[in-house]
Amino acid sequence: MQNKLKEKISQLKEQKKAIILAHNYQLGEVQDAADFVGDSLELSQKAAQTKAEVIVFCGVHFMAETASILCPDKLVLLPDLNAGCPMADMITAEKLRQKKKEYPKAAVVCYINSPAAVKAEADVCCTSANAVKIVESIKAEEILFVPDQYLGQYVAAKTGKKMIFWPGYCPTHARILPDHIEKLKQDYPLARVVVHPECRPEVIALADEVLSTGGLCRYAQTSQAKEIIVGTEIGIIHRLREENPNKRFIPVSEQAVCPNMKLITLEKIIYSLEETVFEVKVSPQIRTSAIATVNKMLAVGRG
Ligand code: 13P
Ligand code: SF4
Repeated sequence: MQNKLKEKISQLKEQKKAIILAHNYQLGEVQDAADFVGDSLELSQKAAQTKAEVIVFCGVHFMAETASILCPDKLVLLPDLNAGCPMADMITAEKLRQKKKEYPKAAVVCYINSPAAVKAEADVCCTSANAVKIVESIKAEEILFVPDQYLGQYVAAKTGKKMIFWPGYCPTHARILPDHIEKLKQDYPLARVVVHPECRPEVIALADEVLSTGGLCRYAQTSQAKEIIVGTEIGIIHRLREENPNKRFIPVSEQAVCPNMKLITLEKIIYSLEETVFEVKVSPQIRTSAIATVNKMLAVGRG
């Protein structure tokens, strides 16, 4: 059945001159049907480079928006418009404008998990793969970091910069608790612990490595570790196991599931390609400011 759906997707992709980009948290079958699977930075780099006319984004809304910011002439499709990111929804452009008035001298660094209109209000954007490097490159004495307080706190600890945090967070990563890690460390004493920087500071304190999802995939391939305790959304386990059949990956919590990332299915990709839905487009007015913010980030690249 899945093979038939994948065949159909291949045919439609060719007909529509489309590329399928998928985030590392997508369902295994969606990752397998994609042309490219990666983290937020890699996906935006890929969107910026592609020659395809249509981008089917298997991820969440802000990712498709970023692709639209970068490729205004391409058709960017999100197979399910309900696939949002609750953290991105914890901030609005209006609220950020008010906050900026309180801190007029602060540079605004905006995590890519944010609406396009918020990016338009920021000085520079970042992902979990380059947040430290981006913040290090900023001359201003104060930095207003939005919307992920935990990523912000991690970056502040790494860089020693004076930072003001927005009270946003990822509900999926917030479900990962120190107890989960401590228990698994007892069960697997030789395992390395890798967590995502969206995790709580108490969780990050227990980790051997703090990496973006793309960073984790590279670490799994290059490190000597044979067992890795994985502190992020469990969708990534599919790719880790496929790329490293001789290593053991232990998800830190079965609760670490992002329901939004699971909304995209093979059937919805087919519908999206057949009906040319659902388009995600950023208005030219917002795009003009947001593109500068995103391009500054792409110029820095990976941290
Ligand atoms: P990265 O894949 O960029 O590490 O980000 C994780 C994430 O939460 C995406 O929503
Ligand atoms: Fe948003 Fe968290 Fe889901 Fe990523 S894992 S899309 S940050 S809710």
